[in-house]
Amino acid sequence: MSTYDDRIYLDHSATTPVDPRVLRAMLPYWSDVFGNTESSHSFGQEAAGALERARQTIADVLGCRLSEIVFTGSGTEADNLAIRGTAWAARSVGHGNHIITTPIEHHAVSHTTDQLRDRFGFSVTRVPVDRHGLVDPQVISEAIGPETILVSVVMGNNEIGTVQPMVQIGRICRERGVLFHTDAVQVPGRLPLKVDEMNVDLMALSAHKFYGPKGSGLLYIRRDTRLEPVMTGGEHERGHRAGTVNVAAAVGLATALRLAEDERRDESRRLRSMRDTLIEGILERVPESRLTGHPKLRLTHHASFAFLGVEGESIVQGLDLKGIAASSGAACAEGEAEPSLVLKAMGLPAKWGLGSLRLTLGRSNTEDEVARTLEVLPGIVDRIRTRT
Ligand SMILES: Cc1ncc(COP(=O)(O)O)c(C=O)c1O
Repeated sequence: MSTYDDRIYLDHSATTPVDPRVLRAMLPYWSDVFGNTESSHSFGQEAAGALERARQTIADVLGCRLSEIVFTGSGTEADNLAIRGTAWAARSVGHGNHIITTPIEHHAVSHTTDQLRDRFGFSVTRVPVDRHGLVDPQVISEAIGPETILVSVVMGNNEIGTVQPMVQIGRICRERGVLFHTDAVQVPGRLPLKVDEMNVDLMALSAHKFYGPKGSGLLYIRRDTRLEPVMTGGEHERGHRAGTVNVAAAVGLATALRLAEDERRDESRRLRSMRDTLIEGILERVPESRLTGHPKLRLTHHASFAFLGVEGESIVQGLDLKGIAASSGAACAEGEAEPSLVLKAMGLPAKWGLGSLRLTLGRSNTEDEVARTLEVLPGIVDRIRTRT
C-alpha cells in the first residue's frame, strides 16, 4: 500500500519524501543544537562537531577524505561550483580554456557551460551520444586537447536513465591530466559511488533525490584540485563556499546517504524487477511505444518511454487524473511543447520526441501499483490519440 492515500507516486527522480529516520536525525539541529559552526564557544562547537560527523559519514560512503566534502545548498549549486570554480581557477593561472561535456546534461551543467562559453570566452565541446544516450569514452579521448581543463559527464541521466561508462572516462581523464566532474545527483541508492574507483575529481549530489531534505547538496572535491569559490564571503567550507552552514540539512544529507547506501542492494533489486515489469508491460500493451535510454545500462528505478504522435504532458495529465504522478521530459516553451533536447541528441525523430514519459520508482511503490499503472496507461494514450 502506498503512503499517499490511494495515489501512486512514480516521480522519484523529481524528488523523494524525507525518510522519517532522516527527519529524526535532523530534528535536534533546528533549535536545540543551533550554534553557528564558526563560533568558538560551546554552542558553536557542538554544531561544528555535528557537521564534521556528518562529513565523516559521507566520506565513509564515498571512500574519500572528510576534507574533500563541501556542503552546498543544492545539487545545482554543487554543479555550478564544480564547473565555474575550476574554469575560473584555470583562467586565473592562464591554464587552458576548453571544457568537454555532453548534450544530455541537466541544465545545472549545460547552462553553466553555456554561460562560460557565451560570457567568459571558454570553448565548449559537446561530444555526441549514441541512440541509447551513451557517451563513447574514445570520443572524449579524441576531443581532449592541450587547452582542455575539464570533462563533465552526467553519471545517471535524469530523463532517460542511461548510466555512463564512468570508470573508462575517469581513466582517460586521469591519464591525460584533465579534471573529471560528474553530476551523480540521480545515483545514490541505485549504484555504488566510490570516487576512487571512478577516478572522479568532482562529484555533485543532492539530498532530496534520496529521501533527504530539499536545499541540501554536496560537492566532492579531490584534494589539491584548484577551485575558485563561486559564493564569496567568509571562509566557510575551507574557503570553497561562503555562508553559514545549515547543519540540520547536512546531517539530513549524511543520514540519508548512509541509509541509501546500506539499503542499496536489496532496494535496487526490488525496484529493478518492478522497472522491468513496467518496461515490458508498456512496450507490449501500448502500440507505437519505445523505450528511451539504454535497455540495460540504466538506473535501477528508471523507466522512460516515447509514444508516437502523443504529447507527453497530456499523458502526465491523464495519469494524474487517475491518481498516478509521473513526468514528461519535454520542455514547454511559451505554451508550446518542444521535443526534448536529450531525445534529439539521441537521434529520435521529432514526431517521437514530444511524447516522452518518465516513470521513476521508489521506496513507497509496490507491485500492485505497477500493475495498476499498466492497466490504465494504454487507455490514456489511446484516448489522446483518438482525440487528436
Ligand atoms: C541530474 C540532475 N542534476 C542536478 C539536479 C539539480 O539538483 P537540485 O534540485 O538539488 O538543484 C537534478 C534535479 O532534478 C538532476 O536530476
